Order: sequence, then structure tokens, then C-alpha cells
Amino acid sequence: MNVNSKIYVAGHTGLLGSALIRVLSNKGYGNIITRSHADLDLTDRKQVENYFINEKPEFVFLAAGKVGGIISNRTYPADYLHINIAIQDNVFESSKNFGVKALVYYGSSCTYPKICEQPMKEEYWLTGALEDTSAAYAAAKIAGIIGCRSYNQQFNSTKYICLIPNSMFGPHDNFDLENAHVLSSLMKKLHDAKTAHQNEIVLWGSGSPRREFIHSEDTARASIFMVENSEKLENRHYNAGTGTDYSIKELAEIMSDVVGYKGKITWDTSKPDGTPRKLLDSSRILSLGWKPQVNFKQGLEETYVWFLHNRPGLK
Ligand SMILES: NC(=O)c1ccc[n+]([C@@H]2O[C@H](COP(=O)([O-])OP(=O)(O)OC[C@H]3O[C@@H](n4cnc5c(N)ncnc54)[C@H](OP(=O)(O)O)[C@@H]3O)[C@@H](O)[C@H]2O)c1
Repeated sequence: MNVNSKIYVAGHTGLLGSALIRVLSNKGYGNIITRSHADLDLTDRKQVENYFINEKPEFVFLAAGKVGGIISNRTYPADYLHINIAIQDNVFESSKNFGVKALVYYGSSCTYPKICEQPMKEEYWLTGALEDTSAAYAAAKIAGIIGCRSYNQQFNSTKYICLIPNSMFGPHDNFDLENAHVLSSLMKKLHDAKTAHQNEIVLWGSGSPRREFIHSEDTARASIFMVENSEKLENRHYNAGTGTDYSIKELAEIMSDVVGYKGKITWDTSKPDGTPRKLLDSSRILSLGWKPQVNFKQGLEETYVWFLHNRPGLK
């Protein structure tokens, strides 16, 4: 991939897609193409084929998909399955058929077993039962991860690269409480509690589950690194995390500091906790030479500044 290569970032308005645009541009890649969801529905095979035939992208970062938190996953499991499978099937096929050199696909840490030895090595993948609430989304992601392997195995044209980033955060995250992941939802709830001068906030669960978070720009840099080093890659997925996890309680304390919430936090232990721990073992990608750069607290502070400036247009 060189600075003039034609690069299609699918899902450029989202958390990861917008980070890819920023990082690619900062690195000097100047021939980036995008198309909004309204103008190109990636679940529509014909529209996708026409786009690839007309635009002839050389590299594709597939950051489009249906992504959400527990409530949304529980309410719309069929949408999570259908939309993600349709998008990846259309984009994988068109990439193969219309001359794409490499495509980066994003799996999810929820494709690892709910109860899994920690940190989770790539080898532990599919060795146990999935977390039930996100099983439909995970099933689509499993199809995509195996899809990358299968296309590489059967065809010799496009290189399919598969990254599993842990839970991401950053500008353009989703702060709508119905759809948000734990980090953005905590940021929004603590911000709301601060502005409403609440003395106390009640949060779900015991606060003891541990989670690993990665800034979207670190995932973007990992993606570009993988394309630039694609000749070193095995035909398998690669984890991409920071190697550090936090209990939800610790996260709530750090986040209170970031947003300036001074009230009390109470834990509603009658609510479910979900998977106890989700820490990726990222030694494979680290051994190739990539490493995360964003300091966690600083990344949160910058995300909060973005949140404050963009609230009216938030998803
Ligand atoms: N967020 C995480 O923590 C995380 C972790 C691991 C892996 N991933 C994976 O990383 C990828 C990006 O996630 P994200 O968090 O950046 O998602 P996001 O913020 O929700 O962005 C998704 C993007 O996809 C677009 N999109 C959705 N449906 C589309 C369709 N039918 N046609 C065209 N565009 C469509 C959205 O456009 P509109 O908003 O206009 O619909 C948006 O630009 C996903 O594959 C996700 O599974 C995410």
C-alpha cells in the first residue's frame, strides 16, 4: 500500500472508520474513498458490486457493521446476525471479484468463550460456549473470521486480514444508552449525573467484571500495520489489545475523574454482570512490531472533549 493507493474505508462515519480516516490521512495516504450508508447500503449485493466496479478500490478497511451494547443485542439479535453477515458477504465477494489487493476485517472478542482462560490467546478461540446475549452478533463475526481464512485458502488474489480488537473507544463512539458499550455509556451516565447535580448514581452489576479497552486510533494503526506487513502474516486472526484491563468499578472511578462527577457510586448487584473477564493476549501482533500508543486516561479525556463538543449530533 503506498500513499497513492486507492483505499476504501467502509463505515467511515463510525468509531473505527473515522479513526481510520484520521490515521490514514496523517500518514499521508491521500486517495481515500468513502460512501455514506444512505448512498450505499452494503447489505445490497447489486449496490456493492456497482460501487466496486466503478471505484476499483485497491485496499478495503471493512469498518461498517451493526454494533451495539447488551440491550440492543438482546432486542435485535436477528438484525445483528443478518446485517453483519450480509455486509461482509457482499464486501468479501466484491473484493475477490473486482481486484482488491487486501481487505482488513474486524472480529470481536465476544467470539471467544464466555468462560475462557485469561489472557485469551488466539488458540482459545471456539473452545467453549459463547456469551448468550451477544451470540447472534458473535455468530456473524465467527463467519467473517472463518471467511477471511477460507478466501485466503481458496483464492490467491485478495489478502484477507482479520483483526480482533478488544472493546474500542474514542471520538464518534456511540453514546445512545440503548446502543452504547460499557465505556461510552458510563461516560454519558456520569456526565448526566454531574450536570443534574446528582449526589448518587446507581450502576448495573457488581462492578467486578474486568474489561480491556483500546483506543480506535490504536486499532486503526494496527490495521494499517497489518496491511503494510501482510507478507509476514499467517492465515489466522490476530488479537489487538493493550494488555491492561480494568474492573468496571475502576473504570467508573477513572471516568468520574475525567468527567468531574463527585457524587457517590452505588452498585445494583441484582443486575447481571456478564462475562467475568475479557483480556486479549496480543503477543502475536506485538511480536510483529505493532504496539498501542494511546495513554488510557488521556484517551478518555480527549474522548470526553469530543463528546462535549458533539452532543447535539450524537447517535
Ligand atoms: N466498537 C467496538 O468496541 C468493536 C470491537 C471489536 C470489533 N468491532 C468491529 O469494528 C467494526 C466497526 O465498529 P464501530 O464500533 O466503529 O461501529 P460504528 O461506530 O457503529 O460504525 C459502523 C459504521 O457502519 C456503517 N453502516 C452500518 N450499516 C451499514 C450498511 N448497511 N451499509 C453501509 N454502512 C453501514 C455506519 O453508518 P451509519 O451510522 O450511517 O449507519 C457506521 O459508519 C465493526 O465490524 C465491529 O463489529 C468493534
